[in-house]
Amino acid sequence: MYTIGIIGPMEEEIELIRSKMKVQKVEKLANFTFYSGTWDRQRVVLVRSGIGKVNSSVAAQILIALYRVDFLINSGVAGGLNPKLKVGDIVVSRDAVQHDVDQTAIGEPPGKFEDADVIYYEADPRLVRLGEAAAKGLPGVKVYVGRVASGDQFVGTDEQKQRIVKTFQADAVEMEGGAIGQVAYLNQVPYVIIRSISDASADAAGAEYKSFVKQAARNAAYLIEQMIQNL
Ligand code: ADE
Repeated sequence: MYTIGIIGPMEEEIELIRSKMKVQKVEKLANFTFYSGTWDRQRVVLVRSGIGKVNSSVAAQILIALYRVDFLINSGVAGGLNPKLKVGDIVVSRDAVQHDVDQTAIGEPPGKFEDADVIYYEADPRLVRLGEAAAKGLPGVKVYVGRVASGDQFVGTDEQKQRIVKTFQADAVEMEGGAIGQVAYLNQVPYVIIRSISDASADAAGAEYKSFVKQAARNAAYLIEQMIQNL
């Protein structure tokens, strides 16, 4: 039996997962609500982290240090950067980067702080395979293993998207996964990001996001359920 930490930024992104778990304990730490219980044969701790890199980092560290999770799954929605990705498609992270990290003025490459070892945080290959296999059960939905770029910005313009694609060759953009990747790396805990595309086209990102976020979250929740069953 594993203990799986699941992080979702927003209520829409965690409510389905919570409804499928057998929740045994609810605790508030650092203002986040942690739901512990079981799902299938596994122990699960689910947290709604709130939006952004700091929130998700704190939530991830609590899951690792206090709940002793064996690995982290970050679920939710993302904006598509790769033109192959349509709304509702799934991205499973091969790796993740923080696109707003910038010490280029002092000679560092984009995405890297002076004291960091890496730019791209590798996801756990086993979790990637499980995510990819699980997504095959969603009819009409493509699964794509790719690079997730994260930053403390909602990326809503073509210009912003192009910069991230050009600099990092990223496939999807959101606001937490790269930070969770760094926390996982620092603690040597396996992780993966599973994101369903909620907005694909460039300048309509804001409007698309609002209408598709629920469907996208449903896809991501289904996928995690399959992963847990196949662990
Ligand atoms: N999450 C979903 N869509 C996003 C976007 N376009 N930018 C940042 N985070 C997102």
